[in-house]
Amino acid sequence: MTEPALTVDLGERSYPLYIDSQIISSESLYRKHISGRNVLIVTDENTAPHYLPALQETLSGFNCNRLVLPPGESQKTLDTVASIYDQLMRDRFDRNSTLIALGGGVVGDICGFAAATYQRGVRFVQVPTTLLAQVDSSVGGKTGVNHPLGKNMIGAFHQPACVIADMDTLTTLPARELKAGLAEVIKYGLIDDAEFFQWVDKNLSGLLSLEATSLRQAVAHCCENKARIVASDEREKGKRALLNLGHTFGHAIENACGYGVWLHGEAIAAGMCLAAQFSIALGQLPEPDLAIIKSVFQRADLPVQPPAEMTAQDCLNLMSRDKKVKDNILTLVLMKGIGRAFLSTDYDRSILEHTLDSAFSGAAGCLSENE
Ligand code: NAD
Ligand code: GLY
Repeated sequence: MTEPALTVDLGERSYPLYIDSQIISSESLYRKHISGRNVLIVTDENTAPHYLPALQETLSGFNCNRLVLPPGESQKTLDTVASIYDQLMRDRFDRNSTLIALGGGVVGDICGFAAATYQRGVRFVQVPTTLLAQVDSSVGGKTGVNHPLGKNMIGAFHQPACVIADMDTLTTLPARELKAGLAEVIKYGLIDDAEFFQWVDKNLSGLLSLEATSLRQAVAHCCENKARIVASDEREKGKRALLNLGHTFGHAIENACGYGVWLHGEAIAAGMCLAAQFSIALGQLPEPDLAIIKSVFQRADLPVQPPAEMTAQDCLNLMSRDKKVKDNILTLVLMKGIGRAFLSTDYDRSILEHTLDSAFSGAAGCLSENE
């Protein structure tokens, strides 16, 4: 029997994270965490051919149905959630049903939100199959969808019953998606774990070439960090907001370019560089740290500049609609050093505008820096 690698400690909502090879079809794991007989697997067209048949076979002892969605960020809408409700209603699934999110963060966020809201909440299991979902989105219970005017604007906190992260699934992941996941891995180092940042820096080529031990170590370490932060601040009243490093800028980029054009990981990589630039402008971050940060992203083949077709004003407009705006004040995650992120509301707005002006006007001329 596979033992959990760790537990997210949330009292009666605590749940285990299984991180291992060859566990995606482990019947005993699912049996332990599924309630009732009715199971709906929600997945997408890219993930299904690799993992759906075996999972359906594993769950053949249940009344197991499936819903295969078109892939990608553009599907993260209320219409897609409605298609899950439709299927649940057609199949006469009651409150004692379990949803299984088989896929990346998009499937996990959509399926989790359907689980949070169907009949006021049913059980769900996260089976993350992208690096990004294994290190971040499957853990912590944030679920939701996008609005045309803002990313992740509609959502709910709903913790999964467990997370089953099978490392072998990363072998079928397209290279661009693996790199996008590395942006979230690097994020944990930048937030409060300088030693891990150095570890990632040293082990980057192993991670990029899917070296199993390094990947397993990275996923487990990121999940430990995330579980610790979520356990201390489940509803993002304080410290959890640090996990949004680069995200306010990144979400603006995702929205401005059209959902799915820049991958989430790509957008937050550029977003973390903008956060670093702004931190330098405020006199918080030593200037040499920016080159170190950019160098890791560049070696992971991630963007370090915002998109050329976007302006500083576009960015400011979109940021003003961010979820982190309260009473007209936008909380930003900034850095005092690598591994020393902090939250700020009392920054000088004109310095922010100036930083974005120069970053966005430099973007067109700096595309080669992104390559
Ligand atoms: P994704 O879900 O779109 O998956 C990336 C692509 O890879 C998709 O085309 C998918 O079909 C395909 N895919 C998935 N697994 C595969 C596999 N093993 N083999 C082959 N193809 C596979 O994207 P993502 O990067 O996993 O997730 C991004 C989303 O996660 C964003 O919407 C972001 O907002 C969200 N997110 C949520 C949280 C949270 O806490 N809930 C945290 C971070 C990110
Ligand atoms: N990915 C941000 C969070 O889970 O809080």
